[in-house]
Amino acid sequence: MKKIFKLLICVLIVSCSSSDDGGSGPIVGGPTNPNPSTSDYLKDQVNFPIGNTVSAAELASSSTTNTAFKEVLLNDYNSITAGNDMKMYNMYMGPNNYDWSDGDAIVDYARDNDLRVHGHTLLWHPEYAIPNWLENFSGTDAEFETLVKDYIQAAVAHFSEALDNEGNPIVQSWDVVNEGYDGGALRSTLFQQRIGDDYIAKAFQWAREADPDVKLFYNDYNIAGTPAKRAAILNMVSQFQTNGTPIDGIGMQMHLNHNWPTSDLPLAIQEIASTGLLVHVSELDVKVNYADDITELTAERAALQSDQYQRVSYYYKTMVPISQQFGITIWGVRDVDSWLYDNGTEWPLMYDADFEPKPAYDGFKDGLNGMDVQ
Ligand code: XIL
Repeated sequence: MKKIFKLLICVLIVSCSSSDDGGSGPIVGGPTNPNPSTSDYLKDQVNFPIGNTVSAAELASSSTTNTAFKEVLLNDYNSITAGNDMKMYNMYMGPNNYDWSDGDAIVDYARDNDLRVHGHTLLWHPEYAIPNWLENFSGTDAEFETLVKDYIQAAVAHFSEALDNEGNPIVQSWDVVNEGYDGGALRSTLFQQRIGDDYIAKAFQWAREADPDVKLFYNDYNIAGTPAKRAAILNMVSQFQTNGTPIDGIGMQMHLNHNWPTSDLPLAIQEIASTGLLVHVSELDVKVNYADDITELTAERAALQSDQYQRVSYYYKTMVPISQQFGITIWGVRDVDSWLYDNGTEWPLMYDADFEPKPAYDGFKDGLNGMDVQ
């Protein structure tokens, strides 16, 4: 009798646990089919990666703040992007002279903690993002082009060698060109001036030659908010697809504010997804005080901010085909660490100074679970 009872318990346990697992992994939910995860952490709500930014210095630090930062990072996120450390100015020291140390430290941390690294960014135009020696390079345009090609190929090749414990690449993707369009026109940048209007296509080709598998992204801001810019980028992508220039994905930075009319968002996401490429929301944050009209974060603004975060995760989750969901990356953890902090007058992120989640965190999570803003 006892034996039969034990057997019955065993059968019950096995059948319960296998139905929890869903047999072939967690179910990807839509609005009426939320993911059944029992974990409250962001990364466990969905089957696509949820990312945030890091620096080598904060990962190496064991200060109270950075220990708390890493706890949040590892709980809520499974993808990381270097906020600055993998930009050209920090890695390209001179011809044939590279400093990979910060990127390597980030990759090592990712390996130890089962994270994906998104490479950001091979080419970006602001003066601070280009090493002085290259900005001031007085050789010919052809020599300049070779220097840029060398850098792209060296960086992509170097980071393609970093493998996780199962032999898979850790740096799975790169933003090849960042912010190449200015409204609806090709942006005038050092790279465009010295290499020519086809520098973006060349950069993608060079990167592909250095690694046949790494995912290559074009990344830009206001792709959702400026239809002319979106049209120009879609046009570039369609030309790439027609003439065989390699491109795997589009990064929509998604630096928003609480007032932005997100009625544009579903259309933008749908148009970007219609390319068939991977879609990355790559730098999400939501300003609440761009007009400088509040002196502290009010409950009303926090709620509007939460709604914006929720719209982004909701539309991403429900509109981007699963096979194109590269993930959503938030551009920072605490308000006080944001690039938009503005001496304490802006609160664009999802956690306060004590790493406590703000309403935006819950809104974002609800969107991940397929719930639209009420
Ligand atoms: C920002 C960093 O967060 C800041 O620390 C730095 O001072 C400037 O760059 N778009 C991008 C990011 O693609 O690389 C930028 O990051 C934010 C805007």
